[in-house]
Amino acid sequence: MIAAPIIALALAGIAAASPTPAATTCADGTIVANSQCCFWANVRDRFKNEIFLNVCQENVHSLVRIAFHDAIGFSLNSEKGGGADGSMIQFGATELNFHANEGIDFIVDFLQPFADTVGITYGDAIQFGAAVGLSLCPGAPKIQAFVGRPNATRAAPDGTVPEPFDDPEKIFARMADAGFTPTELIHLLASHSIADQAGVDPEDSVLGAPFDSTPFSFDSQVFLETMLVGVLFPGSGPNQGMSSPAVLAVRRVTYYNVLSGEVSSPLPGEFRLQSDKRFTVHNQTACAWQENALSQATMASNFQTAFQKLSLLGFNKANLLDCSEVITTPPPATQKQAFFPPGKRHVDIEQGCATKAFPTTLSTAAGTPTPIPAVQVQDIPFGRRKK
Ligand code: HEM
Ligand SMILES: *[C@@H]1O[C@H](CO)[C@@H](O)[C@H](O)[C@H]1NC(C)=O
Ligand SMILES: *[C@@H]1O[C@H](CO)[C@@H](O)[C@H](O)[C@H]1NC(C)=O
Repeated sequence: MIAAPIIALALAGIAAASPTPAATTCADGTIVANSQCCFWANVRDRFKNEIFLNVCQENVHSLVRIAFHDAIGFSLNSEKGGGADGSMIQFGATELNFHANEGIDFIVDFLQPFADTVGITYGDAIQFGAAVGLSLCPGAPKIQAFVGRPNATRAAPDGTVPEPFDDPEKIFARMADAGFTPTELIHLLASHSIADQAGVDPEDSVLGAPFDSTPFSFDSQVFLETMLVGVLFPGSGPNQGMSSPAVLAVRRVTYYNVLSGEVSSPLPGEFRLQSDKRFTVHNQTACAWQENALSQATMASNFQTAFQKLSLLGFNKANLLDCSEVITTPPPATQKQAFFPPGKRHVDIEQGCATKAFPTTLSTAAGTPTPIPAVQVQDIPFGRRKK
């Protein structure tokens, strides 16, 4: 008897609280300020279902990597490409042959036909796709999504993407040329929390070897684990030969043998880039690195700001359409605080930050040390090389 008026009041309350007077409700229920974003809600779902298979695994990882490699083709001081413009795909015949882009062809084989099918530019496919992909990773921040980038007009030149064997000064200089401080670089490197390698050491046993023990979680483990003393090479050393053609075909990438991009890692199965390790002890980055190791929330928020800047390189966001409402909120972090993997403890930390000691409060996960499993490739409907 008294239910009806209460429901009516509740509905009135919802209407009054909707985001803007001009808001549109898309077919799937997403509420957007600009009705054009409903198209992108559909693209979001297609990305999740057809490219990522709804998980934070290899295809999300590869998409976040190409988002960096495409965008960083940009300079404040000279002509080095149009930034986050999709030139990595549009001019793939040029850019995919650059040494630092080794393995990027793997995601381009999916992403190019996908973008052509749904009718979006490659620049949008890469940056919007990365925002959607990250929304599947526990602990990731929600990335704002701007769309409307025009087609790329030229290839980026070689040398814009840092290599793991470059020394920190060289990497800082390249990042500064694109507008990023060493601290912002460390903030971007939270991406290595959801990362693995295939091309630095092409040995079969380390195909897909991750950079931390939790590659499907956007967490601060990568910052903690890179600070641990290196004790082993997960393959058979830093100077491996080429994999067999059969293995290469399965992995769908071509390999170069980058000799010194790797340094010893703390855990069997885990892979460590030389550049990451050197940032942990360099006096311009060690404290930012440690700060990220010690706070999941700070790491996520730092990354959100830096990644947003990256995804807009070469563009003025006033000229793009903000469709951030269609990006869903990522699952919460699996833990609030990094932990020492089984068998590791405070004494294994190599202190880099000169002004703040690493605290003794982090705990060690229970159990016996076991090798970190490799990240597997995902089979999806898109792709020229699908078997
Ligand atoms: C100092 C700068 C950087 C260097 C030297 C570097 C180097 C590398 C290398 C060598 C790999 C392994 C690639 C392979 O063998 O398949 C890798 C993977 C990756 N990188 Fe970086 N990177 C840097 C910065 C970044 C940034 C700024 C981002 C994103 C914001 C990023 C995202 C990724 C991701 C997501 C992967 C994993 C890809 C996958 O698992 O398929 N990297 N990086
Ligand atoms: C980008 O190029 C493609 C293929 O040439 C074309 O179909 C599309 O309309 C272009 N998009 C924009 C936004 O210019
Ligand atoms: C950082 O280290 C370099 C050499 O490794 C040194 O020249 C420089 O003075 C140091 N800077 C600070 C602020 O300690």
